[in-house]
Amino acid sequence: MKAAIMGYGTIGSGVAKVLEENAAVISRRAGEPIELKWVLDLRDFSGDPIQPKIVHDYKKIVYDPEVKLVVETMGGVEPAYTFVKAMLTHGKHVATSNKALVAAKGAELIQIAADNHVNFMFEASVGGGIPIIRPILKCVTGDVLEKVYGIVNGTTNYMLTKMAADGADYSSVLKEAQDLGYAEKDPTADVEGFDAARKIAILTSLVAGRQVDYEDIPTEGISHVTPEDMKYAEAGGKKIKLIATMDASGDSYFVRVAPFVVSPESPLFAVDDVMNAIMIHGNMLGDAMFYGSGAGSLPTASAVVGDLVEECRHVMRHVDFDWDPVKLPLKDPADQAYRFFIRAARSKEDISAAFGTVSFIENVIDGEVGFVTEMISERDFEEKKKDFGDVISAIRVLD
Ligand code: HSE
Repeated sequence: MKAAIMGYGTIGSGVAKVLEENAAVISRRAGEPIELKWVLDLRDFSGDPIQPKIVHDYKKIVYDPEVKLVVETMGGVEPAYTFVKAMLTHGKHVATSNKALVAAKGAELIQIAADNHVNFMFEASVGGGIPIIRPILKCVTGDVLEKVYGIVNGTTNYMLTKMAADGADYSSVLKEAQDLGYAEKDPTADVEGFDAARKIAILTSLVAGRQVDYEDIPTEGISHVTPEDMKYAEAGGKKIKLIATMDASGDSYFVRVAPFVVSPESPLFAVDDVMNAIMIHGNMLGDAMFYGSGAGSLPTASAVVGDLVEECRHVMRHVDFDWDPVKLPLKDPADQAYRFFIRAARSKEDISAAFGTVSFIENVIDGEVGFVTEMISERDFEEKKKDFGDVISAIRVLD
């Protein structure tokens, strides 16, 4: 079985390494060896062992009838979409790690794959090396999934962990995460939560069987989380984590990405550094947690190669995914209720008058008070916050 890789960056080069180092087991499981024939990249890689396989025109792969498997690890929607579509329509199976592509065009590419009797697989697009897409699609199929939530961005989890542990500043930890190959090319997608939003959009689409657009998901990143917020979390024995959540009730779905205060009782409390974890709650299953390496070259490449093996096993048959391109309307996020952790430079009396019963966290930072509200809807919280006027910061609590 001949394969090609489109995009020889962090993940693409990882895929080549996995194919080479694990060739024997991959061959046994796939039923035949998978041999890398071409690598599409703009660069030449002169002097690199990969150089003889480098091509600059994707049509060289499209029109090579020997190539049956194509890996897309370029990132971004275009030109990845054009290239992937061409591969599928020319009868090639595709495996991708590209969540931007999957979130935007997943349903359509699955349909194109079906029309051409090939497969479009994207296990690596959520949770890096953690198996989560196939378990949702193939294992918990007897359950109604009521909740899917977790830490799905390695870069921000790494950053928040370092900021909490070392008091490290935002820019230096971002640079470390980039150097380790965790971050997106433009790390705004990581730190502002869009990468996590794309991932929870993909998972919700698969749970609901309908298209969820990540642009419809209320999304907050970590760029407004300050060392002072971290001090409060630490004082209370808690952590701040970027959480992506989906709550379903019948056909109604609340989806959100935001930093949350997480208590030690939550299994997500212990998920640090680049690790990711996704919790699912099924009406029969109860809870299950998928934990592992959420970003980086080899973990993500491992998931891509897992898809290649799966495609070899279904080389003559399209494996269907239940993902209708018709858009799923999400519930009004203003109706969702949380407890909020808030910092304010006002008296306890003023705070209680504005927010009702709260629990205070005092003596953490001079000249201000921290407090946690009771459950309150987003709508009510926004109103109270506006009337009160002096909120320094507010972070939802994961309950
Ligand atoms: N930038 C992403 C992350 C890569 O940090 O999680 C893996 O999807």
